[in-house]
Amino acid sequence: CGIVGYIGHRDSQNILVEGLKKLEYRGYDSAGIAVYSDEGLVVRKAKGRLAVLEGQLCEEPIAGSAGIGHTRWATHGKPSDVNSHPHTDEKQKISVVHNGIIENYLPLKEELTAKGYTFVSETDTEVIAHLLADLYEGDIVAAVRAAVKRMRGAFGLGVLAESEPDKLVAVRMHSPLIIGLGENENFIASDIPAILEHTRDVYILNDGEMAILTKDGVTLTDLEGGSISRDAYRVEWDLETAEKGGYEHFMLKEIFEQPRAYRDTMSPRIDGNRVVLPDVGLTADIIRGIRRIHIVACGTASHAGLVGKSVIEQLTRIPVETDVASEYRYRDPIITSDTLVIVVSQSGETADTLAALREAKRQGARVLAVTNVVGSSVAREADHVILTMAGPEIAVASTKAYTTMLIAFYLLGLYMAQTLETVTPAYVADTLAAMQKLPEQVEALLGKADLMKKVAEQFKTTENLFFIGRGLDYAAVVEGSLKLKEISYIHSEAYAAGELKHGTLALITEGTPVIALATQEALFEKTLSNIVEVKARGAVVLGIANEGHTELSKTANETLYIPRTLPLLTPALAAVPLQLLAYYTSLARGNDVDKPRNLAKSVTVE
Ligand code: G6P
Repeated sequence: CGIVGYIGHRDSQNILVEGLKKLEYRGYDSAGIAVYSDEGLVVRKAKGRLAVLEGQLCEEPIAGSAGIGHTRWATHGKPSDVNSHPHTDEKQKISVVHNGIIENYLPLKEELTAKGYTFVSETDTEVIAHLLADLYEGDIVAAVRAAVKRMRGAFGLGVLAESEPDKLVAVRMHSPLIIGLGENENFIASDIPAILEHTRDVYILNDGEMAILTKDGVTLTDLEGGSISRDAYRVEWDLETAEKGGYEHFMLKEIFEQPRAYRDTMSPRIDGNRVVLPDVGLTADIIRGIRRIHIVACGTASHAGLVGKSVIEQLTRIPVETDVASEYRYRDPIITSDTLVIVVSQSGETADTLAALREAKRQGARVLAVTNVVGSSVAREADHVILTMAGPEIAVASTKAYTTMLIAFYLLGLYMAQTLETVTPAYVADTLAAMQKLPEQVEALLGKADLMKKVAEQFKTTENLFFIGRGLDYAAVVEGSLKLKEISYIHSEAYAAGELKHGTLALITEGTPVIALATQEALFEKTLSNIVEVKARGAVVLGIANEGHTELSKTANETLYIPRTLPLLTPALAAVPLQLLAYYTSLARGNDVDKPRNLAKSVTVE
């Protein structure tokens, strides 16, 4: 989603719409603005492209020099006019734009409904508007402070109240927000491009900080009201760099967004020591009735499915098959009414995946979709949907969408297992605790990007390259290999390490690069033997293992250690250095990283 807000001496409508246009590249499904005009607070919003909203505003402009605007990428509730932002409490006339997720929106909604507030949308954001109205006692800043104390989750907020039109209030909690500083005008935005045309001087808010904007100035405070002083940051980026958040490519930006994406995907689904999937509709009866599972997808999503298969089988002991969608639909799969078919698709629009879904439904299966796009075809046609909260992914090579699919599989596997009691509550609790450490462990791995850059320099001139691993490491390297080949154009293959000696070893000669992933503790010694085998044939090896396995350094040419986690979870960490390796190799070869030749982000033809 994107946020923009303005308070100043000019008419705000066009500033808001132009700002939203600068966020269009991120994708969205609806847009809206709220402007304080002579008639009070006027809200206009529309599903679809910005042009739809713009057309409406052209016919009936809103004059006024304070306003907030939003482009939405649906999470709670389908794309529609009423679900678009801003959300407004009609009695108090308080409007809100919001990025992020309010985790406790259900209890808050119940509480406010009991107090007589009427909800018109399906969003979590509407709760904020009514909560603010409920807490409002003539001071919008105080109301925002009080409301924030009641809200759990991630939010970047912009708030405008009819009774205090000279103020715009912004808050940041785990969702980016910046303040733009102008002459007799000030701005808020979720992303720099939205305001770059007007100012290059910004305050970058930290989590737990608020900004109170007037036409003439900006006050920064913490959530208790204590004042904060900060130097403005001068943005030197051009628009193109700003769109990429300062990164050279969308792919790199998206790789670095993973800690946030993991948190967003997990946190609404973890309640203490249990997994909750409130909107998914998988009842205990449904879960108990599942006898077999098929995971069907294309490309990177199908590789997430390979991890999903191991996770679900280990946790639930229900047999799982995986298939690429283009094969599944034509191979006459054995589908029974007790089969759960899980389709996995970032876009939710891949033609083969959609066709597989329809075939599965036609044959009477129950279908669960794991997708990143609310309201996508796959999401609409499936019986159940687990949304990954990666946010828009723009680079063709999938990164954060893949890893959040893994998180979705962990959550699903644990949810089924806790229902079936195939694992103990203590096991669920331990796994969830380990999962909650993943975001900071990913941060630590991102900090080692330079090592991957160095290895990329070594490998960049090779024609052939191999990845090896066992068990879940094999599932992880299949994706690592695809990532590398799709953007570096180096021929790369992934092998189950134990299978090498049955043929592939013949291809290993002096100087052949091999990337060996050995994070599965029980299989470490075995994979180490395979590393020795390839080294003996002259391979140059990058070994990746868990921290503490220093013996790897004696065998491999380069080693990367990943933070300790449970064996089941290592793919969610190992993916990160493999993405970075692919990225830097592509870069070193001078390729168009974000738009590799011959490939498309979403393939909607068969
Ligand atoms: C295209 C993309 C891949 C993606 C695949 C499946 O081939 O280039 O990155 O993995 O489609 O896309 P989906 O949206 O269904 O996950």
